[in-house]
Amino acid sequence: MILRTLRLGDEVRLHEYRNKKEVSKYQSWTRFSQREARNLVTYTLNHPYEGEPKQKTQLAVTLKDGTMIGDLHLETLSKTCLTIGYTLDSVYWGMGYGREAVRGLLAYIKETFPHNKVIAYIYKENDRSRRLLLDLGFVKFDESFFYHDEGYVLYLRGGNKK
Ligand SMILES: CC(C)(COP(=O)(O)OP(=O)(O)OC[C@H]1O[C@@H](n2cnc3c(N)ncnc32)[C@H](O)[C@@H]1OP(=O)(O)O)[C@@H](O)C(=O)NCCC(=O)NCCS
Repeated sequence: MILRTLRLGDEVRLHEYRNKKEVSKYQSWTRFSQREARNLVTYTLNHPYEGEPKQKTQLAVTLKDGTMIGDLHLETLSKTCLTIGYTLDSVYWGMGYGREAVRGLLAYIKETFPHNKVIAYIYKENDRSRRLLLDLGFVKFDESFFYHDEGYVLYLRGGNKK
């Protein structure tokens, strides 16, 4: 598996799998049009990510043969905290790819940026996503009945809980 920055042409696969009902079910979008896919690629290319507060980026998850099977979201919330998101084409669910991709993202963050705290929010019904986070060592720190979601946190270097 390879994690890389989005590039021109990725909009085709982004639209294909993000627009599937089961993929968007617990996400912030319902439909994901070709235009939205193109905008996401363009935004990413025009906004290099250096880990500074308010910066965000999107990575492609590909198999070794180049097939794009999903994408990862990375966003800086503060000098110590990042938030992540992950989306895989449902054709590739249940094979351990999600865990492998997020594990790779966490390793990349740890070796590249000084941030210690990584958080992820999921909808309460998103059991697959919860299993993934718990398996990678995340713990629940927040729960909202209003938004119907839960927040999970992982401290990359333990100790310093800032
Ligand atoms: C959440 C999501 C990324 C999980 O993807 P995934 O690849 O199925 O997740 P995992 O890597 O954790 O897969 C683990 C499953 O594969 C199975 N598996 C099979 N072979 C495996 C292997 N070699 N290694 C690990 N797990 C393996 C595990 O038993 C596990 O099954 P289970 O979920 O029934 O317990 C995916 O469902 C998704 O993209 N959903 C839509 C988007 C979304 O909701 N994102 C989260 C909101 S930010």
